[in-house]
Amino acid sequence: MTRPRGVAGYGEDAEGLARRYEGVAFEEVHGELLPWLPDLPGRVLDIGSGSGRDAAALAARGYEVVAVEPVPALRRIARRLHGDTAVTWVDAALPALTGVRGTFDLVLLSAVWMHLDERERVEGMRRVAELTAPGGIVAMSLRHGPPPAGRRMFAVSAAETVGLAGRCGLAVVHRAEGPDLLGRADVRWSALVFRARHRTTVEGKG
Ligand SMILES: C[S@@+](CC[C@H](N)C(=O)[O-])C[C@H]1O[C@@H](n2cnc3c(N)ncnc32)[C@H](O)[C@@H]1O
Repeated sequence: MTRPRGVAGYGEDAEGLARRYEGVAFEEVHGELLPWLPDLPGRVLDIGSGSGRDAAALAARGYEVVAVEPVPALRRIARRLHGDTAVTWVDAALPALTGVRGTFDLVLLSAVWMHLDERERVEGMRRVAELTAPGGIVAMSLRHGPPPAGRRMFAVSAAETVGLAGRCGLAVVHRAEGPDLLGRADVRWSALVFRARHRTTVEGKG
């Protein structure tokens, strides 16, 4: 796989980043999502899974979890920290997510989407919709604020994301704005939850 451009800056300090990600619990980061978690049994796809915090927490709740992460150092850390959980760790990247198959009851994109440029977001949303089971949930958090040095990040609004998702058959069911849990004053977050229509059709594709 050619190295996706969105991963710039992640491999270099993977240990330090993982310590930060693991410093907050899944329930704290994704409180907005808890009422929308699908029934068990269910399949979860965590895209851009980083240190594996969310994938491991969802596996502990009883879901069958596939965690996709393109940075080898982060995948190694996730396996080391959460090797006792039944997560399938996969090397793949948005927008194509090559090799990811089947459909999922929950697709999680936590702090990942703003790494994609406009073209990648269009292709990526189509792929996310394709991988979401009818009636399934897509949960996304978007970071707003100046990017950390060395990272490839775009200003992506919640409004644009809701529009793009809608055109791919994903209807917004919850949206919220909030501060940064890691305490950065210039960073804010949008939390978005979508539900896949029962027959997902991408506009313009019939
Ligand atoms: C800010 S971290 C978030 C990690 C984790 N989801 C969390 O919330 O703690 C962003 C993650 O997205 C991954 N990433 C960047 N570009 C990506 C792409 N094109 N496809 C999939 N993941 C990507 C990075 O490697 C990194 O693990």
